[in-house]
Amino acid sequence: LLLAFAVAAHERCAAQGLGGGGGATSILIKGGTVVNADREEEADVYIKDGIIDAVGPNIKVVPGGKVRVINATGKYVMPGGIDPHTHFAFEFMGTVTIDDFYSGQAAALAGGTTMHIDFVIPVNGSLAAGLESYKKKAANAVMDYGFHVAITSWNDQVAREMEVMVKKNGINSFKFFMAYKGSLMLTDDILLQGLKKCKSLGALAMVHAENGDAVAEGQQRMIDFGITGPEGHALSRPPYLEGEATSRAIRLAKFINTPLYIVHVMSIDAMEEIAKAKREGQRVIGEPVVSGLVLNESWLWDPDFTVASKYVMSPPIREAGHGKALQAALSSGILQLVGTDHCAFNSTQKALGCNDFRKIPNGVNGVEERMHIIWDSMVETGKISVTDYVKVTSTEGAKIFNIYPQKGAILEGSDADIIILNPKGRFAISASTDHSRSNTNVYEGWKGKGLVEVTISRGRVVWEDGKLNITPGTGRYVKLPPFGYVFDGIEKSDAAYKASLRAPVQRGKVCG
Ligand code: URP
Ligand code: ZN
Ligand code: ZN
Ligand code: ZN
Repeated sequence: LLLAFAVAAHERCAAQGLGGGGGATSILIKGGTVVNADREEEADVYIKDGIIDAVGPNIKVVPGGKVRVINATGKYVMPGGIDPHTHFAFEFMGTVTIDDFYSGQAAALAGGTTMHIDFVIPVNGSLAAGLESYKKKAANAVMDYGFHVAITSWNDQVAREMEVMVKKNGINSFKFFMAYKGSLMLTDDILLQGLKKCKSLGALAMVHAENGDAVAEGQQRMIDFGITGPEGHALSRPPYLEGEATSRAIRLAKFINTPLYIVHVMSIDAMEEIAKAKREGQRVIGEPVVSGLVLNESWLWDPDFTVASKYVMSPPIREAGHGKALQAALSSGILQLVGTDHCAFNSTQKALGCNDFRKIPNGVNGVEERMHIIWDSMVETGKISVTDYVKVTSTEGAKIFNIYPQKGAILEGSDADIIILNPKGRFAISASTDHSRSNTNVYEGWKGKGLVEVTISRGRVVWEDGKLNITPGTGRYVKLPPFGYVFDGIEKSDAAYKASLRAPVQRGKVCG
């Protein structure tokens, strides 16, 4: 019955498209394996006016019509990737990331990612001014994007602005930095206020979890030892400082009873804290990033500064065992979705820290590589299924940030953000052929299996035959609504907590 409906629905739409369509583009993807987070099926996908119109076997087009047919036989048809963590046009550590919204998104589309969520940084303490500034930065966007907002100071105005951000501006998450002492770092007091405010607004609190005070101490210690090169970066901020801050943030979120999202989980230490909290029933989401999953810190000891410095990011890329453990945690659901923390700088920018690792701009690339590397290192090796691949690269992000099933699914009515991945295809990564503006790439020389051959962004083929077809300014801001699924039941557990408290003791005498 469902099948008959799908076909009928398509034929109705195809006929409309033929009848004069108003320039509407229709695409029929035929013969592929459609993968959603819960199942895979042999099915065709019919796209009309940027939306998925029908999914089912043997969808037929009226001969001679304007419908473009793409043959996906032997290939996977999957939701486009959603990268929950990018920094485009980010003013940071005395410079600005080399990728803006145009080059960063071009790179994303070439690698099969069709939506990303970037971080607005307040301007002079104002969230509204920060958002305005990021809207301007995104004027040349070529794909859909959303925003998180960073909280970098605290006062009544910030609290009021958080409310406006959520109620009027499509923000449903705020990031709190527990590191970068002297610039972005906040105190526990502010984190507590922020957690409370997030809870009242139904917004997700996100943390960069490292003990910033101890990191500053560790950095000075390395400088005192005469260690000024990139290896000093890793040596000054060991995994247990990440574990400590992760544990602290989790406990504070437990105290407030609000969900918590840990960005860029880079170590076993942090992951174990998340696992423990989850076992105890706490709502904690852990986001590993590609660099932390597949790279290791040995590069930081490379004698060539240009090579070593490109791997400097925070928290640092760790010893090899950490990445393996993070992959296992991702495959078993302890960690839930994969980001990139794409924050690219070229070698000239990295050279700002030539004589002092503390001045090397922190950040690595990844937005173009994420889909390929996760496929190659986790699906090809049997660590995750194809459905779980869709889950960790797309669906889970859409659910957590409350835009599922508009995004993250190949379902009738969803946005037509789709990739066609050829499991027999091969990819090779190089700074000379990628779409980032950086002249370096932390995945330089990586060759692997599983190639994104076609990317479709809201019904337009934007990547095909190794070429981009994009128009600046066509990207759309996607508003993210508050009170996503992670908030379900929070009120009930608050009520249960209140009920569990013993009634106030009735005393006979007034004290004193
Ligand atoms: O090194 C990093 N991670 N750079 C981007 C800023 C951040 O902390 O996410
Ligand atoms: Zn961070
Ligand atoms: Zn980041
Ligand atoms: Zn490049």
